[in-house]
Amino acid sequence: MTETSRGKTGPTLPPGSIEHELGVPIPGVILPPEPWTVSALRAWSAAGPVDFPALFGRHAPVVLDLGCGNGRSVLGGAIARPECDFLGVDNLPVVIRYARKRARQRGLANVRFAVGDARDVIARRIAPGALAELHVYHPQPYYQPGHASRRLLTPLFLLQAHRALAPGGRLVLQTDNPAYWKYMLEVVPAFFDFHEQAGPWPDAPEGRTRREILARQKHLPVFRGVGTARTDIDPDQARQAAEALPPPAFNADRRLMALDRLERTGLHPRARRRRRRREKGPSQTPDQGDPE
Ligand SMILES: C[S@@+](CC[C@H](N)C(=O)[O-])C[C@H]1O[C@@H](n2cnc3c(N)ncnc32)[C@H](O)[C@@H]1O
Repeated sequence: MTETSRGKTGPTLPPGSIEHELGVPIPGVILPPEPWTVSALRAWSAAGPVDFPALFGRHAPVVLDLGCGNGRSVLGGAIARPECDFLGVDNLPVVIRYARKRARQRGLANVRFAVGDARDVIARRIAPGALAELHVYHPQPYYQPGHASRRLLTPLFLLQAHRALAPGGRLVLQTDNPAYWKYMLEVVPAFFDFHEQAGPWPDAPEGRTRREILARQKHLPVFRGVGTARTDIDPDQARQAAEALPPPAFNADRRLMALDRLERTGLHPRARRRRRRREKGPSQTPDQGDPE
């Protein structure tokens, strides 16, 4: 296989190529440049929530993936379900650059990727009922006792997720951290009819995401769940539930940190340093732009 060019995101493979990561094909095939698409949502509207019909040029069910990493699950979903539109968000610009490039080269018109903070997105960028599905795969467990407040899944996040989803909309959660999973089972049912998905996803038996593939290759457990937004609670009851539920103060077990280090090995050294700094230092202001 010959390389045709080299950019910030590494070599561009020739048309017809199938990319692999960790020995597992990345969904889709690289196309010749003519049908390449624009896959970037570069700026969040100052006016408020994302206007999905304007962004995608059609009315379609919207699937949001928060903390999407390199976008593997978004690409897989968008190819398998062309009738849906997909937005992937991550606060690490470099992974979004890779994700955008892959969506663009696969000619996917139903995908956008944005740099952003998941908590800001769910709180301010999604109109009530605008989502058909919300996916969160392997949110960072944060192992330091003082970092528990950075965990994404909190009662407030779930309240906002419930509001962002259309009635009956689906929440997909996945983690390889047993304590995080135990916490999810404790709090998610207050807002969602939530069930464990036993075994790997039928559409991606080796893993929907990079982190899932890594965990499976290391023979670590992966916990997967699917929930449906409850329609038997009104907004007041949901708010009261959120206030009554415990924060994510669990012990994430530092012995499991090895997988995080392994996950970083695929990143550019600068991105590795940035992520390490972010995990050690005070919470960063989300980077809303793409320096590319
Ligand atoms: C453990 S990785 C999982 C990535 C991907 N979902 C997967 O399963 O392979 C967690 C991802 O969440 C991103 N992330 C962490 N905190 C975030 C936040 N507040 N907003 C958006 N993304 C975040 C990280 O940059 C990283 O890409």
